[in-house]
Parts: sequence; structure tokens; C-alpha cells
Amino acid sequence: MESRIYPCMVAGTGSYVPEKIVTNVDFEKIVDTNDQWIVERTGIKERRFAADNEFTSDLATQAAHKAMINAGVSAEEIDLIVVATVSSDNIFPSTAARVQVNLNAMNAAGFDLEAACAGFIYAMDVGSKFVSAGMYNNVLVIGAEKLSSLIDMQDRSTCILFGDGAGAVVLQRGNENTGRILSSVLGLDGRRTDFLQIPAGGCRIPASHKSIDARLHYITMKGKETFKWAVTYMVDSAKKVVQNAGFTMDEISLVIPHQANSRIIMAAAERLKLRDDQIFLNVEKYGNTSSASVAIALDEAQVSGRIKRGDKVLLVAFGAGFSLGATLLEW
Ligand SMILES: CC(C)(COP(=O)(O)OP(=O)(O)OC[C@H]1O[C@@H](n2cnc3c(N)ncnc32)[C@H](O)[C@@H]1OP(=O)(O)O)[C@@H](O)C(=O)NCCC(=O)NCCS
Repeated sequence: MESRIYPCMVAGTGSYVPEKIVTNVDFEKIVDTNDQWIVERTGIKERRFAADNEFTSDLATQAAHKAMINAGVSAEEIDLIVVATVSSDNIFPSTAARVQVNLNAMNAAGFDLEAACAGFIYAMDVGSKFVSAGMYNNVLVIGAEKLSSLIDMQDRSTCILFGDGAGAVVLQRGNENTGRILSSVLGLDGRRTDFLQIPAGGCRIPASHKSIDARLHYITMKGKETFKWAVTYMVDSAKKVVQNAGFTMDEISLVIPHQANSRIIMAAAERLKLRDDQIFLNVEKYGNTSSASVAIALDEAQVSGRIKRGDKVLLVAFGAGFSLGATLLEW
């Protein structure tokens, strides 16, 4: 039997952020920091925090629902749910299982994928392969995080960086006339796992009074080192994915980078010789939402009309691991 590879397109996008806005001034009351320092070093002005009774699966469900409406796909038609997250409701079962029930998408298979801030790009790539192989017609890919549950509110160097939110896409088999995923690049450099991690809670350091007292269940980071590698990895993956597809950086209409820090984005943009109008930025509103960041930005770019038919759109991200990923779309 002849094996075929089908083109895969983004049929719809959606995003959701919790209502509660936490400003830099709010952080001035919690740790020794100030609005000016945070804005100058990170570009972040505010972020969203989920309510106590609002979980990653709830944020994921809201974003997914919007993406399904945008794509015109019903819950019964969803074949697979892939949730990229580092803040799953539980270690197991998967957040995908909770999203399935929330959406009533009972025909879907589903699983979670963890590739930190590159998670959504990894999940899109994995999801697209099921479409390309002809196995599934409608794949729901979600990036969702409740990072407010993982940040150390006593550590001023990390607590100001992160926020909560979710973004989603519906992937479908495309044809000649639809926008589609042109190429993607994934990578991992496991030599630097200690730069950005949650030390405890896994099997290396299970929860104990000692681990809790030592505050090991929160995000820890070597900021300067992370910054340096983030720029290097973003530049390398962006170049590679654009070259693989046979384009030049100049031909890219919009670059949607992981929204961790505007200085990281601008340093990478300078090395890639990007014009200002080629860069999408929303880090000032949401901070770093890890797996959700690129997904939220993609939806906002689409809804606000920054992406037009025929545009080449580059998604690029890096995260703990270090994980890295880039995807080139033709809208
Ligand atoms: C975290 C980050 C903003 C810090 O910026 P920086 O220029 O590297 O700052 P430094 O770490 O050199 O700290 C400079 C000073 O500011 C202080 N500082 C740290 N956080 C602060 C805060 N929130 N408010 C005020 N001062 C702060 C430090 O204690 C240090 O003080 P010292 O000189 O007296 O020791 C930056 O390193 C960064 O963005 N790294 C990448 C983070 C990231 O993207 N992580 C996610 C990847 S997915």
C-alpha cells in the first residue's frame, strides 16, 4: 500500500487568561523589588494569576473551547488532545484526561507532554504528525500553565517572571488552498538541567518536611546563564527552520517568540536582523506563561489581524531542559 504524508494546517486558535491581574507594584508589597527594575530587566508590567479553585485543566479547557469554535469543530470530532504543561493538575492522571471530560470530547485519545517553555511547539509538532500520517482528522493541541502554584514568593529573582494562562490550536488535514505547517525543528540540550528546574517533587527528591522547609518545590533558576543560552538557542533554531523550508529571514512576516523576557527577544531579533514589525510581543501583559506563551501569542496575533492569508509565521521557543523548538507556518 502506498504511504502518503498529508499537509497539516492550523484550522483554529484560541486563548484564555485568568481574570486576576497582578502588577509589578503588587510585587513591591511582597518582595524587595520595584516596577522600574522589573520593566527594565524583563519588559513585564503585569501577569495573570488563576483563582485558588481554577486549575491548569480549567484554563486549558477555556482556550480549547475557543479554538474549536474558531475552527468550527465539535467536541465529538476531536480525535486527540495533547496538553503541553509543566504545571499539570496532578503528576498523574494527565491534564488531557480532565480537559477531555470538561469538553465532553469522549472520542478523543489524549496525553500530556512536558518540554517546558518549548512545550507548545513540541506538542504542535507531535500532534501534526498524527494528521500528516492520516491517523487523525482533528487534533487539539493546548499549552496551559498555572505557574503561580510553582513560584517562590520569597525569591524576587524568579517570582516576578511568571504568570498563568492557556492557548490552543486545532490541527487538521489541509489541502493546497489552506495555510499549513511547512517545517519544524526540535532540540534538547540536557547538559544544563540545573539552570532552570523544580528540584523536588519527582523521584529524585520526593516530598518531605526537609524538602518543603528548603523550598525545593518551587522554580529555581540561574538567570544570567539562562538568558545567554536562551538567545543562542532561539537564534539557532529560528535560522534552521527557515533555511530548511527554503526561505530567508526577510521573507518571514511575523516571528512569534516565547515570551520570557523582552530583552531576550530583542537580543535574538538583533542577531537574526529582524525588523521591529516582524516581532510579536505581549510579555508586558502576561509575563512568562511557559507552555502557554507561544499559543496565547499566536491566538492574539491572529485575532488582532497581525497575521494575514499567505503570511509566513515563525514560532520559536526555548525552555528548561534546555528544550528548544521552532515551527514555520504558512497562513
Ligand atoms: C532574571 C533576570 C531578569 C535578572 O536580570 P540580570 O540583569 O541578570 O540581573 P542579575 O541576576 O545580574 O541581578 C542584578 C541585581 O538585581 C537583583 N535583583 C534580582 N531580582 C530582582 C528584582 N525582582 N528586583 C530588584 N532587584 C532584583 C539581584 O539580586 C542583583 O543584585 P546584586 O547585584 O546586589 O546581587 C535575567 O537574568 C533573566 O531574564 N534571565 C532569563 C530568565 C528567563 O527567561 N527564564 C525563563 C526561561 S524559559
